[in-house]
Amino acid sequence: MKFTQSPAIELCVHDTRLSIQQDNGSMHVGTSVWPCSLVLVKFVERWHPLRCAAADNPYADLLNFTNKRGVELGAGCGVASMGLYLLGLHDVVVTDIAPVMPALKHNLKRNKPALKKSLKTAQLYWGNEEQTNSLKPPFDFVIAADVVYLEETVAPLIRAMERLVADDGVVLLGYQLRSPEAHELFWAMCGDVFEVEKIPHEHLHPEYAYEEADVYIFRKKRKEAIS
Ligand SMILES: C[S@@+](CC[C@H](N)C(=O)[O-])C[C@H]1O[C@@H](n2cnc3c(N)ncnc32)[C@H](O)[C@@H]1O
Repeated sequence: MKFTQSPAIELCVHDTRLSIQQDNGSMHVGTSVWPCSLVLVKFVERWHPLRCAAADNPYADLLNFTNKRGVELGAGCGVASMGLYLLGLHDVVVTDIAPVMPALKHNLKRNKPALKKSLKTAQLYWGNEEQTNSLKPPFDFVIAADVVYLEETVAPLIRAMERLVADDGVVLLGYQLRSPEAHELFWAMCGDVFEVEKIPHEHLHPEYAYEEADVYIFRKKRKEAIS
């Protein structure tokens, strides 16, 4: 699977085809679809509890979305949220910064016939406490794909993840190294707040896996474990 410059990206989730229009010429990175988001969705699809029986499925509990709430950070065109919605995460808020909202809303509307619902959107700049509070945390799932690329946004991003995820919730992260400085800082800071589990590459979807892309699960460290 390769990153594609084509104006529309198609992603099949079970039997439903999503079609996401991207604008690679825009100055905002969120108007393109980044492949980690596809890797994340297809990982979840592969181990979806309704498709893969619990006895053979190490992720059956993790990926049980029944009655769970989710929020996506830096959603861009919204493909991760749309995919997870189709996989049962029906209460999901899709967030990004104001300049990306038109592309996000356009793509949610474009896929409304497939989704049969308008997904909720909200502006969220990481570090903006008022916007964070207005989302009414905690969430069972915080979703993020390809959001670690600027050193100065690492601390607010981790703070947003920590503020939004429930004590017993998880962060589902699609990750690719984009900047060595941001990478180093991100993993150093994450270790203070979260227990980090890396999904083995062989557990990713075979057609949606490439060497540089990873999926991680974060769980909040228990308070006594931090001090
Ligand atoms: C590389 S794009 C990934 C987009 C999408 N998750 C995907 O995988 O296709 C990074 C996203 O993070 C968002 N972002 C960057 N800095 C942010 C900030 N400080 N607060 C909120 N979102 C931010 C960008 O607007 C963009 O949509």
